[in-house]
Amino acid sequence: MALFSLSTFKLTQIKKVLLLLEKKDRFRLLLVLIINTMLAFLDLLGVALIGMASAILIRGLQAQGAGDQVSRALELLSLEGLPQRTLLIVLVCSAVFFFILKTILSVYFLRRILRYMSVRNAQISSSLVSKMLNRPVEKIFSKSIQHQIYNVTGGVERLVGGVVTNLVVIASDLVLLLVILIGLMWVDPLTSIGTFFVFTAIAFLLYFLLHRRVAILNSNFAYQSIYFNQKVSEGINSFRDLFIKGGREFYVNEIRKTKMQLASYDAEIKFIPNISKYTIEISVILGIALISGIQFYLFDSNRAIAVISVFLAASTRIAPAIIRLQQNVIAVKSSLSAARPTFELIDELNDVNELAKNETLINTTHKDFSPKLALNDLKFTYSDSINEVVSGISLNVEAGKFVAFVGPSGGGKSTLIDLMLGLLAPSAGVITISNHSPVEAIKKWPGAIGYVPQDVFIENSTVKENICLGFNPDLVADQLVWDALKMADLTEFVKSLEGELSFKISDGGKNLSGGQRQRLGIARALLTKPKIVIFDEATSALDAETENRVAESILKLTGECTVIFIAHRLSVVRSADMIYYIDKGKIVNQGRFDELRAVNADFNNQANFMGI
Ligand SMILES: Nc1ncnc2c1ncn2[C@@H]1O[C@H](COP(=O)(O)OP(=O)(O)OP(=O)(O)O)[C@@H](O)[C@H]1O
Ligand SMILES: [Mg+2]
Repeated sequence: MALFSLSTFKLTQIKKVLLLLEKKDRFRLLLVLIINTMLAFLDLLGVALIGMASAILIRGLQAQGAGDQVSRALELLSLEGLPQRTLLIVLVCSAVFFFILKTILSVYFLRRILRYMSVRNAQISSSLVSKMLNRPVEKIFSKSIQHQIYNVTGGVERLVGGVVTNLVVIASDLVLLLVILIGLMWVDPLTSIGTFFVFTAIAFLLYFLLHRRVAILNSNFAYQSIYFNQKVSEGINSFRDLFIKGGREFYVNEIRKTKMQLASYDAEIKFIPNISKYTIEISVILGIALISGIQFYLFDSNRAIAVISVFLAASTRIAPAIIRLQQNVIAVKSSLSAARPTFELIDELNDVNELAKNETLINTTHKDFSPKLALNDLKFTYSDSINEVVSGISLNVEAGKFVAFVGPSGGGKSTLIDLMLGLLAPSAGVITISNHSPVEAIKKWPGAIGYVPQDVFIENSTVKENICLGFNPDLVADQLVWDALKMADLTEFVKSLEGELSFKISDGGKNLSGGQRQRLGIARALLTKPKIVIFDEATSALDAETENRVAESILKLTGECTVIFIAHRLSVVRSADMIYYIDKGKIVNQGRFDELRAVNADFNNQANFMGI
């Protein structure tokens, strides 16, 4: 029999996994363990009855006593007086009954555990996603999408299915083995202890020979799978570039190499549990032969046969339990390694709370929201960088004004917008929107701020669902969507589509033009009739005429609505109330169009270049 010391596992990791479960879940696991212990006693009872039956059979054949324990046990069960035939039938039938009962109950509880674990798996995945999305934007994009998908899918499955479920099975098997060991000690203490030591030694030897390899293989497998998925999605996303360059073959070769590597890891991972299985199988057979040899050598054949039959009966329960134990220990080790990326995520999310459970309902009134912004000595440095990207910016945007940010690429404009929107937390300084911090303002007045990013994301869904992104489309009136489309100069286009609002846009907006994607982003930002709208290069893909039409409809909003515009094309910002020229994270100059032109040579040159 084998007892495993769990100290060789990374106990801290196991603890982390168990802490992912709620308190009542951990209590349930304990309950499962207690039930399994009781089931182990049923097994022991079965083994003991078979052993007794064999002993009596021999006694019948030899007309001699088959050992004190059997007589004592029969006495105990008040079965002594029964004829041998009846006694045998009673004992064997009872044994069969207990074995079957134990198996049926085990199957029943296993099913419940597995179902319950699947639910926990889903809950933990969702909770991790909720926490992941409750972090600053730079953290969100710090790992590839494929990596993050693995963390909350495959990784969590390995943690819950691979670690928790297997730990329960391991604990149950350990209890079973312990109970049978105690039972066998009663029959023959020396043989039992000898067997116990031999199997423990084999189990440890196997574990030490295999566990390091298992860990390396599984960890490599996890990272290589992430890389594989990443390459496939990159291959699809960069199809145009690859096609034109003749670069598709490189990608396919890279993907092939990765997949071949994965295949070799996979083959080894699948083979390793079999090494232990066959070793244990052989050991059990050798063990029985050895016990028989010793028994026949040391004792008379009656006693030898009686003891051997008990051990044989026990081995039918012990061998599968040991094999399961070995394989599950390896499975836990594998899962802990395969879930390494998820462990890293869990560590990162330690202090992060989950998002609120209730969804935000669409609101277009924004009562008491005052569309003004104040930035005071704002500073920001990205966590993976040493250079300050925003270095002490202070400015006030009054309600209803049209403000623009211009300046060279990489100057820090988009970063400044992310700070204003609470997507990044400033290293120093204060931002207020309507006298609240950006995060509070967004929470208090959802939809009061509209934002069109530099790269508009298009969902793989209908026009309406895309415009309603983040809101339940069934709760949004079509008219609201049409209003937004009108502002973005998209009415005609959407009316020309089959199904209009229910026209399905393909992945990433591949069946739209660049300008249409951008205007969809604008319509999305305007859906809630926001009081502050921020456009980050949001009209760069439009032709001059369309850009003017869109800009005009947006600028009509000013007075009641504050408009913040980042633009490289200066024609749009000519009528701005204030233009800030941002370079190297600082406001270099500011003023109305002509004022800025007079003081900033670069700005003047650009305006001249554009013929303004
Ligand atoms: N997530 C990030 N991590 C580290 N550095 C970043 C990150 N995003 C941007 N940067 C750096 O911050 C600087 C400012 O970038 P930002 O996107 O704010 O410039 P920008 O003024 O919007 O430029 P553009 O006009 O080209 O859009 C750049 O040097 C950029 O490399
Ligand atoms: Mg930018």
